Amino acid sequence: MTKNIVILISGGGSNMAAIVNEANSGRWAERFGARVAAVISNKEEAEGLAFARERGIATEVVKHRDFASREAFDAALSEVIDRHQPALVVLAGFMRILTAGFVAHYAGRLINIHPSLLPAFPGLDTHQRAIDAGCKVAGATVHQVTADLDLGPILAQAAVPVMPGDTPQSLAARVLTQEHVLYPRAVEAFLATSVTA
Ligand code: GRF
Repeated sequence: MTKNIVILISGGGSNMAAIVNEANSGRWAERFGARVAAVISNKEEAEGLAFARERGIATEVVKHRDFASREAFDAALSEVIDRHQPALVVLAGFMRILTAGFVAHYAGRLINIHPSLLPAFPGLDTHQRAIDAGCKVAGATVHQVTADLDLGPILAQAAVPVMPGDTPQSLAARVLTQEHVLYPRAVEAFLATSVTA
């Protein structure tokens, strides 16, 4: 059975694109029987959707604004995700807090990338906070998603230096280039260790 990967985005989708590119160049279909089956966004204007469409990947939009509650949105999102029978659900710049029920439904097959060296700086504005704290290194973390925001078991990390004069934007750009290496590698490690269903 194919190991389907479903990727959730909200914006640029550069991490998603890095994973799709590595799936192709790393021959994940041959090596792991895996493929990126769908890219789903909560925003129809997410730039990453066009990239996915051009690659022939199914895209879907589930707008959170169409739902009265977090629970209703998560239920609709789950329904769309589950049509693709995912072995792995990858959050890649997906800017929604998920309900405990959603997280439990995907226990063990839901991962996220967060732009800090967790457990430092969970939440938003990570780069500004790292600069304000005087950190000499910053980075990104791939972790399993649990009900505690940004606090699931750590799967992989990459560190970059914080340079004198860094702005949140310059630091974010330096971290993002490492995210593009780290996240595909972490997904590949997951595929290599997960038992075929
Ligand atoms: C990344 O920095 C990711 O860590 C954070 O949001 C950004 C998403 O970038 N959660 P992209 O959409 O993958 O380009």
